[in-house]
Amino acid sequence: MMTNKDWLKSAGIPFQIATQAPEEGACCPIFFLEGEKKGVLWIHPDNCDTQGQILREASRLLQNTLVPLDPLEGLEHALAAAVKGRLSHVVVDETLFDNEDIFLEDPEGYIRLTPSNLRQALNLMTKKSQVRFIDFSTTATSAQKNKSRKRVLSGIQPSGDMTLGNWLGAVELWKKQIEEYPNCYFFLADLHSLTVAPEPEELRERIRKTATLLLACGLDMERAAMFRQSQLGGVHTELAWLFACITPEGRLEQMTQFKEKAQKQASVGTGLKIYPILMAADIAIYQSHLVPVGDDQRQHLELAREIIRKFNSRYGHTFVVPKALVREGSTARVMDLTDGTKKMSKSSTNTDGCIYLLDSPEDINRKIKRAKTDAIRDLYPDSLERPETTNLLGIYQGLTGLSMEAIIAEFEGQGHGALKKALTECLIAKLEPVRKRYAQYSADPGYVEGVLARGAERVYPIAAETLSKAKERVGL
Ligand code: TYM
Repeated sequence: MMTNKDWLKSAGIPFQIATQAPEEGACCPIFFLEGEKKGVLWIHPDNCDTQGQILREASRLLQNTLVPLDPLEGLEHALAAAVKGRLSHVVVDETLFDNEDIFLEDPEGYIRLTPSNLRQALNLMTKKSQVRFIDFSTTATSAQKNKSRKRVLSGIQPSGDMTLGNWLGAVELWKKQIEEYPNCYFFLADLHSLTVAPEPEELRERIRKTATLLLACGLDMERAAMFRQSQLGGVHTELAWLFACITPEGRLEQMTQFKEKAQKQASVGTGLKIYPILMAADIAIYQSHLVPVGDDQRQHLELAREIIRKFNSRYGHTFVVPKALVREGSTARVMDLTDGTKKMSKSSTNTDGCIYLLDSPEDINRKIKRAKTDAIRDLYPDSLERPETTNLLGIYQGLTGLSMEAIIAEFEGQGHGALKKALTECLIAKLEPVRKRYAQYSADPGYVEGVLARGAERVYPIAAETLSKAKERVGL
């Protein structure tokens, strides 16, 4: 029988013999599937505890009834069978590629492959078989048990009044995560907001306001934890330093947000440049699996994944490699009402372009009325030719949950005026309870402080444990 090593060698795929046994989660079992057509299912251990469901999902996807054969036979079986063209299907869990190294069992120990070499091996396999990559961590088959192990984390800068963009792009997504995952952590990125040099009193006020407003949005912070980044005795910044030492400066200069913000300033602070490194530390320190954010944070998340992978590769598996969770559709990036090519931003100086969550009904009415549109009467989205109309339709869709077809049908022949009227009514109705709750929570600052203190207490042990592991790994 050909072993993994023999096969990889003959195929010219680079690998190493592992000197240590892999950490939990790095060695991935393989299931052989027997059905009308034979197949292989290769799955990350994190997603394995729902084997029955996963098999059902794989069967559904492949339109074939599959049953597992001996799961312990090893890759050599699969490879040999695939090479001989005896397998029709190979299903690979995308989560496998989150690990820096992938380990395969071999008679003499373990073999270590990089994700790209694994892909190369799979591509060879697939010449004769059909390969499917599926993210089993997010399929409907993921069991609650699996979810309860996953940590969800996100943050917001207390750098201005929260906007409709923050609400639709992030907060609404956070609300959903709290319902699904028991371990959700949300924090105020107060250290990040120092990059724009706010006045101390103003920063204190913004922190209070943002925490109060997050509660007013209806986020259940008794189930989730809410805290301030600077509240935890420097663990975020200490990990950020370890990350700074392995991050090439050039990567930071490529960040779109850095380039945009730097352009507007005569002298660029170092904090602005290393901002994404602190963000990577925020995420890694809680061993976060999922990071729900708006579309504008995608690039930062990609860099965070890169930094985390690099650390894992250099010092051994230490951190979970996180995934960004971004809403589908246009609410992932809500645009400015006066310029549909610019993001609606809480730090924008043009307040007419932004709906703030505490805007009065009169403000909302005025801003929507004045929102830029075009001369075409029919309403349909076209982000290149009609960014403003597309944005208004997208906001309406995000607020109502209706399909775009239903919205187009609703306003057929009526033009922008009708859309604006409906949008105004909808916004006023949705934001009214937020303003009411904000007034209630504002009257009880002790409660808000208590939520932040309890949140910090809950997450601190996780951060401290991760930091001490990371320090030990680098030799401190
Ligand atoms: P911030 O404060 O700019 O925004 C908070 C969240 O709101 C989203 N968002 C939007 N979504 C859709 N349309 C818009 N117009 C819009 N504007 C903002 C953002 O994508 C974000 O999800 N760097 C982060 C804070 C941060 C963080 C982290 C986030 C620091 N460390 C670690 C996640 C994980 C920021 O400045 O977000």
